[in-house]
Amino acid sequence: MRITAALLEKSSQPFKLTDLELSAPGPDEVRVRVAAVGICGTDLEFAHFFPTPAVLGHEGSGVVEAVGGRVTGLEPGDHVAMSFTSCGTCRTCRHGAPAYCTSFDALNFSGRRPDGTTALSLGGQDVNGHFLGQSSFASHVIAPARALTRIDPALDLDPVGPFGCGFQTGAGGVLNVLKPPVGSSIAVFGAGAVGTAAIIAASLSGCASVVAVDLDDRRLAAARAAGATETINSGSTDAAAALRDIAPGGLDFAIDTTGHEKVLRTAVEALGPLGRAGVIGIGPSESMSFEWRSVLNGRSITGIIAGGSVPQTFLPQLLALHAAGRFPVDPLITYFPFDGIGEAIGAVRSGDVTKAVLTFG
Ligand SMILES: NC(=O)c1ccc[n+]([C@@H]2O[C@H](COP(=O)([O-])OP(=O)(O)OC[C@H]3O[C@@H](n4cnc5c(N)ncnc54)[C@H](O)[C@@H]3O)[C@@H](O)[C@H]2O)c1
Ligand SMILES: [Zn+2]
Ligand SMILES: [Zn+2]
Repeated sequence: MRITAALLEKSSQPFKLTDLELSAPGPDEVRVRVAAVGICGTDLEFAHFFPTPAVLGHEGSGVVEAVGGRVTGLEPGDHVAMSFTSCGTCRTCRHGAPAYCTSFDALNFSGRRPDGTTALSLGGQDVNGHFLGQSSFASHVIAPARALTRIDPALDLDPVGPFGCGFQTGAGGVLNVLKPPVGSSIAVFGAGAVGTAAIIAASLSGCASVVAVDLDDRRLAAARAAGATETINSGSTDAAAALRDIAPGGLDFAIDTTGHEKVLRTAVEALGPLGRAGVIGIGPSESMSFEWRSVLNGRSITGIIAGGSVPQTFLPQLLALHAAGRFPVDPLITYFPFDGIGEAIGAVRSGDVTKAVLTFG
């Protein structure tokens, strides 16, 4: 069928709205009409090196239109959130940790299905897609059923997309991985979409101190509204000293969403004995290093993908909290029509918008 997608013709070029051909779903796949799709930093980073021509986008929500012959548990008309995909059969998938699937990169970042085919084409030429189980900068997607989570049809589909990546990542990093006990302290470095979701989750967990650290006062104000108990502008304040004042014995937990080595080092060194740091941010730093002493006293550093989530169980929980007003991410979202993708990306890059969501209205 003919669909409209935001095509990345060549690396680092602007996305161009283009009509493409989408093939029918395979036996384990589902066709979804996209209602809305969030823009995540990962889309913008991959636009520099993903094999082109390609369709990106990985925070989609929508309505099932058609299902393959082997698909169970989903049918036309179901409302779905889209997330990453996984193989379902490797050791980590079998242990209930699909975010650490041993085939994660091949399935989510190669641009192709495992058999080398792609559902997208233009004038008979293959177009890469299948990005994080979806390629949802498009009116329709073909997704493996494993990438989809059926959600309550009463929910507004527009804010759902970012739950499949950014919000799940921040919230899951706290609720699924670090699991801070009531009364503990946590600092979240970077108060964007991911960091603010982590702050909300820390607040829901009953953390006594929830410290937001960022360079942008607008982000810090939003973090405070979302539940941060303290904020630090690390551009104008010595964050390490400010954290020592807040937690003289050191923090119990820290999360980095900035991807800067220096920031991660500050996060680790702000921990008390046995403190745990979660690494979520990707780039710009390629590596991280620590003094021996800074990790000898029982501190640990854990890399976290997709909040360590099983989307089919975690997303309905988060969406139920959101519907009850207890996961207040709406102030972070600005909506744009799908054909305003260029303007939306500009607003994200400038920092004016925390989470842009494109709607097909
Ligand atoms: N591990 C995963 O599974 C996963 C999933 C989604 C996103 N991510 C990554 O998480 C990161 C955050 O995503 P996001 O959507 O929240 O991005 P974002 O750009 O909205 O947020 C990043 C925040 O960090 C702040 N920041 C930047 N440099 C800083 C510094 N030196 N000190 C303090 N604050 C600083 C920015 O002002 C911004 O508010 C990105 O790197 C993204 O690629 C990882
Ligand atoms: Zn993402
Ligand atoms: Zn697997």
